[in-house]
Amino acid sequence: MRILSIESSCDETAAAVIEDGRKILSSVVDTQIETHALYGGVVPEIASRRHMEAVVRVTERALADAGMEKQEVDAVAATCAPGLIGALLVGANFGKALAMSLGKPFVPVHHIRGHIAAAYLACPDLKPPFLTLIASGGHSQIVLVRDYTEFEILGGTRDDAAGEAFDKVARVLGVGYPGGPKIDKLAQTGDAAKYKLPDSHIKDAPLDFSFSGLKTAVINLAHNAEQKGEAIDREALAACFCHAVVKTLVPRLALAIEQTGAKQVVCAGGVAANSFLRAALEDLAERVGVALYLPPLSLCGDNAAMIGSQAYFEFLAGNTGSALQNAFATAEIGENICEKR
Ligand code: KG4
Ligand code: ZN
Repeated sequence: MRILSIESSCDETAAAVIEDGRKILSSVVDTQIETHALYGGVVPEIASRRHMEAVVRVTERALADAGMEKQEVDAVAATCAPGLIGALLVGANFGKALAMSLGKPFVPVHHIRGHIAAAYLACPDLKPPFLTLIASGGHSQIVLVRDYTEFEILGGTRDDAAGEAFDKVARVLGVGYPGGPKIDKLAQTGDAAKYKLPDSHIKDAPLDFSFSGLKTAVINLAHNAEQKGEAIDREALAACFCHAVVKTLVPRLALAIEQTGAKQVVCAGGVAANSFLRAALEDLAERVGVALYLPPLSLCGDNAAMIGSQAYFEFLAGNTGSALQNAFATAEIGENICEKR
């Protein structure tokens, strides 16, 4: 089964053709990063307009790269939640209309389920159940994937997502948008012991965590240095921040592995590209004896290939959208967005 998939939840317009949920026939990502970099972050209204301009071109490119005519696809899928609502509506409406005009099924996909499915593309033998650490720009959660379309949230952030914290710290350190990759690079040569940064503890919820205290600590360090006329060691602060994020996420994942007895672990989302996190996860996997599945960097950030993979499993589970399918700015990973009103 070949699915044409579309992703437009934030600042990438993407389309892909995926075979049986596991094989990428084509994957095109048109990024808006340069536009939003002018403003230091994503401007939702501009993102929607850019998706409008790009979605037809990107879809035609994905079909051409796969060597297919649109009539040859078996279904059309699009991200319908969560994300920037104006941005989501572009891809969701385009995908729905294309599916209806072709007389093919339309498959609405949850963006975070898609991030997890990136691992199915990277590791064709991977099957649920497994434990996932999701670390993206909008989400940070530890999720038990019971089956391809069955999810249980075990823990997560009480405030900011990991990617959000990276982007904020990048702004404070003046490295610009998008922050994650830039902080990662800056941190490579930094002294990770130079600054003391706080950890978070949530009473009676050992798998939950928080990034707002860490974020505020970095902001205060930078501002205090500025007020005293002292130079901040940006490399060191970036390194300390990366280590603090790792110290927040990895021990909680370790505890979740212990509690669930999971044998397989996946890390998904944009922050899964972080070099310090990847190294710490590899260490953990070796230490506790679990199989670790890390998607390649090209599949960690937003793309439509991951949406096409998850769409296949949603289709098999009967989760297709009607002509009335809506898009939603928020939706928990366990919710069936075909039934959401
Ligand atoms: O998953 P994603 O592409 O979009 C959302 O669904 O939110 O994640 C984007 C986030 C951004 O906050 C970005 O700064 C972060 O992922 N990111 C990274 C790295 N690459 C991207 N964070 C840390 N280290 C990286 N190498
Ligand atoms: Zn994403």
